[in-house]
Amino acid sequence: MHTYPSGSSMDATHIVNGFSKLSREKKLQWIARQAELSERTLSEIHSHLHRDPGHQEVYSDISENTVTNFFLPLGLAPNFLLNGTLLTLPMVTEESSVVAAASLAAKFWAMHGGFTGEVKDVLKVGQVHFTWNGTEESLISSFGKQREQLLRSLLPLTGRMEKRGGGVEGMEIRKTGNRPGNTYQLFVTLRTGDAMGANFINSVLEALAKQFRSVMQESAVDGTPEIIMSILSNYTPECLVRCRVEAATKVFGNMDPGLSGDEFAHKFVQAVDIARHDPYRAVTHNKGIFNGVDAVVMATGNDFRAVEACGHAYAARAGSYSSLSRAEIKGPRFTFTLEIPLAVGTVGGLTGTHPMAAASMEILGHPSSEQLMQIIAAAGLANNFSAVKSLITTGIQQGHMRMHLVNILRQLGATREETGLATRHFTSRTVSFAKVEEFLNSTRDQNS
Ligand code: MEV
Repeated sequence: MHTYPSGSSMDATHIVNGFSKLSREKKLQWIARQAELSERTLSEIHSHLHRDPGHQEVYSDISENTVTNFFLPLGLAPNFLLNGTLLTLPMVTEESSVVAAASLAAKFWAMHGGFTGEVKDVLKVGQVHFTWNGTEESLISSFGKQREQLLRSLLPLTGRMEKRGGGVEGMEIRKTGNRPGNTYQLFVTLRTGDAMGANFINSVLEALAKQFRSVMQESAVDGTPEIIMSILSNYTPECLVRCRVEAATKVFGNMDPGLSGDEFAHKFVQAVDIARHDPYRAVTHNKGIFNGVDAVVMATGNDFRAVEACGHAYAARAGSYSSLSRAEIKGPRFTFTLEIPLAVGTVGGLTGTHPMAAASMEILGHPSSEQLMQIIAAAGLANNFSAVKSLITTGIQQGHMRMHLVNILRQLGATREETGLATRHFTSRTVSFAKVEEFLNSTRDQNS
């Protein structure tokens, strides 16, 4: 590794050129030299390749400069009763206790009416950003006259999608927020059927931008649009799903020895209300929701960065970051609702090509994109329920650290026998890295 003083330029002899063209072996030899990798690390890297070269090719082609695979567990969360259908959710996560938390909440709610999901709408958004050197009036009036022709010109691209119930739904000129100056945008709304639709939207927008520039040049009285960029927006507040659980407060009677069902429900509502009004708490609260959301998004090969970015923007839509879920008590009934924008697909993208994403779709019974939105929202609500439940009763460390114990033991190189001893020892004790290390050391001292 070479280091350079901050702000200085690199010596060109240290830049690697043509790296992407090197074979996998050569890439590995290069990084082994650069990072002085041990034989053990190199052998780990090799051992994570798929044993079947055909499969490995599929994984390698997903990204660039692939040298191996990075495994994450795919777990199953059973007992999700959603709109009367019992589902098992595939979940991919690097965090222990997420799948357990989802499963616990799913089982509880399956016995109390299940989850009710409802898709509000599935509108996607795209933007063609441009500058305009004429008056706003002439822009709007010329665009108005060309609008139909512009839409017709897109038919070669949108025709197939229209047969699947999608296509361009709306198109209007908007000024760019509060930005001073002359930047405008074509704000386009689209439907993309069961596809997430990023490629479709971007292709439509790029074609639209060219066509827009040329028809406006021909027709406009006092200006020409200069295109800056054309890209979908990952903010899709109208691609929205709502998921809800509801029960009489008395069903919470056994949640905590110190709390009646009513008391539990009231404390739960207070906790969610804090997240509605305090951004510091809201971020952690929503993180708990995304524990479930992302795990199913990942398992089904969808774009978790897009889902997260959109969800957080939606959580701040009122001007201050707030909770995505709400809880309330009306009379004897408790309701807990999650409303979240989710632009996900069940066809195209990785959903068909990644063998495990395809397996997840099969586990879920090949849902439509609208069904998948509801499934993902149910996972988010389930994880949120379990997290808040633990926080207002035992605290999260008890359950969390017990699940984490396995990870700590692995990090400390515990044998199977030591793992068994530690698991028994920590059944009724608080788990911490230091405590586990201390326990292992003393066990090892006794046996040496
Ligand atoms: C941990 O991954 C998630 C929680 O922090 C969520 C929450 O605080 O609501 C437990």
